[in-house]
Amino acid sequence: MDEYRYDGRVAVITGAGRGLGRCYAELLASRGCKIVVNDNGSTIVGADTQESPADEVVNAIKAAGGEAFACTESVATEAGGQAIIQAALDTWGRVDILIHNAGNVRRGSMSDMLYEDFCSVIDVHLMGAYHVTRAAFPHMKANNYGRVVLTSSIGGIYGNYDVVNYSMAKAAMIGLSNVITLEGKEHNIKSNIILPGAVTRMAEGLDISQYPPMEPEKVAPVVAWLCHENCPVSGEMYFSVAGRVARALIAETPGLYKSDWTIEDVASNVDTIRATEDLWMLAPEDFAFGQHLGKSFAIAKEQGQ
Ligand SMILES: NC(=O)c1ccc[n+]([C@@H]2O[C@H](COP(=O)([O-])OP(=O)(O)OC[C@H]3O[C@@H](n4cnc5c(N)ncnc54)[C@H](O)[C@@H]3O)[C@@H](O)[C@H]2O)c1
Repeated sequence: MDEYRYDGRVAVITGAGRGLGRCYAELLASRGCKIVVNDNGSTIVGADTQESPADEVVNAIKAAGGEAFACTESVATEAGGQAIIQAALDTWGRVDILIHNAGNVRRGSMSDMLYEDFCSVIDVHLMGAYHVTRAAFPHMKANNYGRVVLTSSIGGIYGNYDVVNYSMAKAAMIGLSNVITLEGKEHNIKSNIILPGAVTRMAEGLDISQYPPMEPEKVAPVVAWLCHENCPVSGEMYFSVAGRVARALIAETPGLYKSDWTIEDVASNVDTIRATEDLWMLAPEDFAFGQHLGKSFAIAKEQGQ
C-alpha cells in the first residue's frame, strides 16, 4: 500500500501540547500535514495556563522538518474556538482536519460534585467541541472537504465513578459527530469518534501493570486514518486501547410492535423487548430520524399487528 500522506492539508489539533494530541500532531506533521498546535498549557484540572507545551511541540515538529505554529487560546469559549480556527485561516487559508482532543479532569461523586467542577469539564470537552467544530464547519463546507475527529472515552459510553461531568461530555460527542456526518455528507465532510486509552498524565495513578503497553503513539495511527482523504467512514466510533483497535456501535433490539400498550403489557413482554438477537445497527446514512421511523414502521408491518 502507498504511504498515507497529508501534503497540502491543514490540521487544527486541540490539546496538542501533551499526551495523545502531541502524538497526533507529530504523526500528521511527519506525513506532510501543516499543524496548528492548540494548547493552553493548563494543569490537569484546567488551571494555570502556560505557553510552553504548545511551543515545545511546534519546535519538535519544525526540528523534524515539518510545519506548525502554536495557538494557546482556550477551546472553552466561543471566542476561543473562533480564534483557533481563524489562526489556521490567517496563516494557511484553510482547515481540512479538525481533531478536538483538549481535556481536563475534575472528580467528584454524584453526591459531592461541585457545580464549578462540573462546568469546568463540560466547558472544555463538550462546549469546546462545539466551539471549534462550529467555527470550522462553514470553511470546510466552502472547500467541499473536511475530516473531523472528536474524542470520547470508555467512560462516555459505559460511565465511570466520580466523573459525571466527564462521562456526560464524552457521551455528547456521539450526537455532535452524527450531526456533522449528516450535515457534512453533501460536502465531503466526515466526522468520527476516537475512544482512546493511553498512558498520559490523565491516566496517572491507574494500575496498568497487567496490560500490554499503552503508549499514546499506539492510538495516533487510528486517528490519522480517520483524518485521511481516503477514510471511507463517517459517523463511526473506534476504540484504540493498549494495541486493540475495534469499532463501537449503537444497537437496538428489534423490539415488539403493538398498537396499544398498557403498563402490564410492557412488563409481560419485557423479555421480547430486551432480546438481543437480530440487533439493528444503523449505517450513518440511516441516522436521519425519518429513516429510523421508517424502520420502526417496517418492523410493525412485519410483525403483522
Ligand atoms: N489518556 C487516556 O487514557 C484517555 C482515555 C479516554 C479519553 N481520553 C481523552 O483524550 C484526550 C487527550 O487526553 P490526554 O490523555 O492526552 O491528556 P493530557 O492531559 O496529556 O492532554 C490534554 C491537553 O489538553 C490541554 N487543554 C486542557 N484544557 C484546554 C483548553 N481549555 N484549551 C486548549 N487546550 C486545553 C492540556 O493543556 C493538555 O495538554 C482528552 O480529551 C481525554 O479526555 C484520554
